[in-house]
Amino acid sequence: MTSYFATVARGLEPVAVAELERLNADNIQPDFAGVHFTGDRTLLYQVNLWARTLFRVLVPIHQFVCTDADQLYRGVQEIDWEIHLTPTMTFAVNCTGSNDVLNHSHFTALQVKNAIVDQQRQRFGERSDIDPKLPDLLINLHIRQDQGILSLDSSGTSLHRRGYRPAVGQAPLKETLAAALLDLAEWSPDLPLLDPMCGSGTLPLEASLKALKIAPGSFREHFGFMTWRDFDPELWQHLCHQAEIGEKSELPALIQGCDRNPKMVTQAQFNAVQCGVADQLRFWEQDLNTLEAPADRGIVICNPPYGERLGEAQKLGSLYKLLGDTFKQRFKGWTAFILTGNRDLAKQIGLRTARRTAVYNGALPCTLLKYELY
Ligand SMILES: C[S@@+](CC[C@H](N)C(=O)[O-])C[C@H]1O[C@@H](n2cnc3c(N)ncnc32)[C@H](O)[C@@H]1O
Repeated sequence: MTSYFATVARGLEPVAVAELERLNADNIQPDFAGVHFTGDRTLLYQVNLWARTLFRVLVPIHQFVCTDADQLYRGVQEIDWEIHLTPTMTFAVNCTGSNDVLNHSHFTALQVKNAIVDQQRQRFGERSDIDPKLPDLLINLHIRQDQGILSLDSSGTSLHRRGYRPAVGQAPLKETLAAALLDLAEWSPDLPLLDPMCGSGTLPLEASLKALKIAPGSFREHFGFMTWRDFDPELWQHLCHQAEIGEKSELPALIQGCDRNPKMVTQAQFNAVQCGVADQLRFWEQDLNTLEAPADRGIVICNPPYGERLGEAQKLGSLYKLLGDTFKQRFKGWTAFILTGNRDLAKQIGLRTARRTAVYNGALPCTLLKYELY
């Protein structure tokens, strides 16, 4: 059994725990912006292929006291790097966290690199090259108080980069956050789903992938573990094949998105083609003020603009009021969810909140508001 650490957006730890339970991980323990778990190599590959809400899966390989640059250098050299890295392989180092002394991530990463290449030079007379873009081995150093934790990053690039969405609108949701919002909304594929301000379509697209049991990682060409020394291509191919044969061909209920901006609708449609669900979904141009409910019950979910720039928020008050009025008058029987980063605007919705869940949209603290529409 190997220990793993999955990173996740702040506030979404409980969602990530539930997801890892569904993926049959063992010894699941939530932490700050991440979740510890254990499992074998098959689980590592499965989590990378199937996780919808996680950013990265790290494999911690060493923890040591690390209060200054010397301790850092020595700690890094305590590892026999040949197990993971030969001089013909490239690598890169990512640093997260800090303490009073090691508080400059670029310098800290350089120190880790030096310790590794010095060990290689001593042993082999040659060293690995650095490839910051697509390294064979991506190493993560996390500093927390007086501790340093070195991990191998099995995902490579963040798992929110599914690979199906080259076209993005203004302020698109990260795919991982969209998937998490659907979990928080307790949406299940047998319920109709509508995003009336869909932008580039992230919420309906993530919902369709989930409903059709399409592995979110199946669009990606690369994961970090694919260039590791112990990569098992047969196991990976087998898991991808299993995922493919488990895909469903039809949605059990309608999933739709609309937006008043025709450019956004075109982007959403393009993205749906990219992930092979265009024949299942419907995206169309419509302003909220003329929108009718497409079914007598379902989940209506959206993230309206928050008005982060000065002056914008004031103008948005009427849009939030329109949202509340539309839901109240024309979506009886539905459950509504609105993600917003602006409390004052949320008040303009004018409906009684059934639940509030704090989540982060990037660095911005937001709330997912729930409304039961009778
Ligand atoms: C923050 S974006 C949504 C981003 C989207 N969730 C995504 O992932 O791409 C807000 C969207 O609301 C749309 N919008 C603003 N006012 C609207 C209205 N009155 N009716 C319909 N859509 C509207 C904008 O065109 C914009 O695409």
